[in-house]
Amino acid sequence: MYSIILAGGSGTRLWPLSRAASPKFLHRLGGTDQSLLQATAARVADMSDPDRVYVVTGVAHAAAVARQLPHVPERNILVEPEPRDSLAAVALAAAVVAERDPEAVMAVYSADHLIGRQERFEELIGIAARAAETGVLVTVGIRPTRPETGFGYLHLADEVSPGVHRIVEFREKPDAETAAAYVASGEYLWNAGMFVFQARAFLAELERQRPELRAGIAAIAEAWDGPDQETVFGATWPHLEKISVDYGVMEGAAAAGLVTTVPADFPWSDIGDFHSLGESLDGDAAGNVVLTDAAVATLRSVQDSVVVSTTGRVVAVVGLRDVVVVDTEDALLVCPRERAHEVKQIVDVLKEQG
Ligand code: GDD
Ligand code: MG
Repeated sequence: MYSIILAGGSGTRLWPLSRAASPKFLHRLGGTDQSLLQATAARVADMSDPDRVYVVTGVAHAAAVARQLPHVPERNILVEPEPRDSLAAVALAAAVVAERDPEAVMAVYSADHLIGRQERFEELIGIAARAAETGVLVTVGIRPTRPETGFGYLHLADEVSPGVHRIVEFREKPDAETAAAYVASGEYLWNAGMFVFQARAFLAELERQRPELRAGIAAIAEAWDGPDQETVFGATWPHLEKISVDYGVMEGAAAAGLVTTVPADFPWSDIGDFHSLGESLDGDAAGNVVLTDAAVATLRSVQDSVVVSTTGRVVAVVGLRDVVVVDTEDALLVCPRERAHEVKQIVDVLKEQG
């Protein structure tokens, strides 16, 4: 199996840690000494030889990605001239992989998720890969715990083979009311943002729904590894439609009956903000999650808080609960935990101020 890791986006809700110049996947946010990207690569290592692992990333992060993943061959790091959202990224990987191996089955992962129970993860991805051999596009479904509007939802139907369900609808980012109704119905799963399919099945569906994008990708793939690779890539890529794989292919593929899902029961988290980071990691006895590069945080009578430091500076917190403290070289964030998502607005203001 081929493993494709999408490493794009900047994750503004994790400011000041995550920046355009150092997005969240490059940071050690899993409570181990691996970055999220390295943890993602380690997670697929038993399923794909290094030579079959691809990373799609932006030109700004290519060097950091290569540094963090020395075992991935450099030619497997697909470097986008500019971000065109996830559909172009997935399509490029599918085209490069299909060129190499027309029968290839590929699994697409986000570089910024936390996932637990490795053995179960591998087992379910294995089930998804076998299902994908029939030509369907396979998603991974997570039981929803809240009416999150930032996710895709899968309307679950009957089981078509052990562990694999048909889905009747893929709905990306519904509004709050719809999301609440979906969760209450018990018939929907969250889309985990992982996809398993034959490269050629995906490209056929891309051709059916978005022939222009498919043609652009085909031109790029044709020139790949040849003398004109850079010229064709650079001239074609910026004109590709900017849309996510969820809106751009998965919704339409599901409507055409081409999507199935493997419901998953391993711990899964898309680290949206510091609050959800705190939820996903095991805290200490007082419920605090402390991530520091050196042992420099001193907490006294602090509960259920998230403390992150990348500076080596001493961080001391006394007598607070449910707070977020994030100390970086040039910016400091302090906020109540339940308002951690508002950091996005701070970033918008800072952007306006230049
Ligand atoms: N290389 C590359 N280039 N990667 C990209 C680009 C791009 O231009 N844009 C996004 N990505 C990568 C992100 O880095 C991430 O790994 C993945 O594609 C998904 O993009 P997000 O922007 O994080 O999507 P999302 O979180 O809003 O929604 C997706 O994930 C949810 C689960 O976390 C969807 O698949 C939802 O349906 C899903 O529920
Ligand atoms: Mg995401």
